[in-house]
Amino acid sequence: MGSRQPQPVIAPLTRAAIFLVVTVNPDDDHRASVRSFCEDFPALVRAVAFRDLEGYLSCVMGFGSAAWDQLFKSARPAGLHVFREFHAGSRHAISTPGDILFHIRAARMDLCFELATQFMARLRGAVSPVDEVHGFQYFDDRDLIGFVDGTENPTNEAAADATLIGDEDPGFAGGSYVIVQKYVHDMPAWNALTTEAQERIIGRTKLSDIELAEDVKPTSAHNALTVLVENGNEVKILRDNMPFGDVARGEFGTYFIGYARSPRPIEQMLENMFVGRPPGNYDRLLDFSHALTGNLFFVPSLDLLDSLLSG
Ligand code: HEM
Repeated sequence: MGSRQPQPVIAPLTRAAIFLVVTVNPDDDHRASVRSFCEDFPALVRAVAFRDLEGYLSCVMGFGSAAWDQLFKSARPAGLHVFREFHAGSRHAISTPGDILFHIRAARMDLCFELATQFMARLRGAVSPVDEVHGFQYFDDRDLIGFVDGTENPTNEAAADATLIGDEDPGFAGGSYVIVQKYVHDMPAWNALTTEAQERIIGRTKLSDIELAEDVKPTSAHNALTVLVENGNEVKILRDNMPFGDVARGEFGTYFIGYARSPRPIEQMLENMFVGRPPGNYDRLLDFSHALTGNLFFVPSLDLLDSLLSG
């Protein structure tokens, strides 16, 4: 295979995003409609993006395990499976339905909205919407619990290295895995904590976003449990979490999205957070946050997508 053009997984953090998850309706006609949509997908993104090149519109499309088999009837990426659940105490990383994810990012919500509209105009009837979340940037890249989110993300080459499949699965090189979870927070309970207690849960200072020193940071801190070291090297993932909500209904949420070249590191982080490392030493953020959804998708390179559709 020649060059493998990845999807824009490593796009910069943006002010707006739409996370759209759909299922493909059963029957061959619907699957054929989805395949034909996939052929036009890059052109649709180009058409809407061109309306404002400074809007930096991009879209990543991912496929769930069952949908991959049904749509492409081809070999499977090594790590693709149904989202792995974790359950401990009252904490539950739940697995929910979802065949296709669209992660739409732009500097302006109107571009995201227009692209989602064009997608659904083409897909209506062939898919059923499962979940649509409109994310916005909140002050200095903070999540709604008030902490700066995304600081320790890898950048440039390190981001590519963390997210793009290489020789370990050559038929799928240039692809990625993505895990999403829609979390809602118990804001009254969170706000009842002192800032210092919140900082010990996250592992960073709230205002200045500085990592807590090792001698004060608990082993249960969010940024302790999500740091993985293998053979002396840190295993990174790329996150682009976004706040969302519905003020009148009291909904305050974080849409978690993590990309990696294998689902394993993200699953390990989830196990550390929900079950604990060691078991019982879990992430206290989960006493105040509840996952409503959970999905794993594979993001093929654009070249692979092309060859699957013409094959
Ligand atoms: C309730 C949802 C979540 C919230 C509000 C949240 C928030 C945060 C915040 C504020 C930070 C510190 C700043 C930063 O480096 O980005 C952070 C770090 C991080 N989070 Fe989360 N997070 C959530 C869920 C998750 C999940 C589900 C995972 C992985 C499965 C995860 C993985 C990470 C990683 C890898 C780091 C960087 C740790 C480091 O290298 O220091 N987060 N998160």
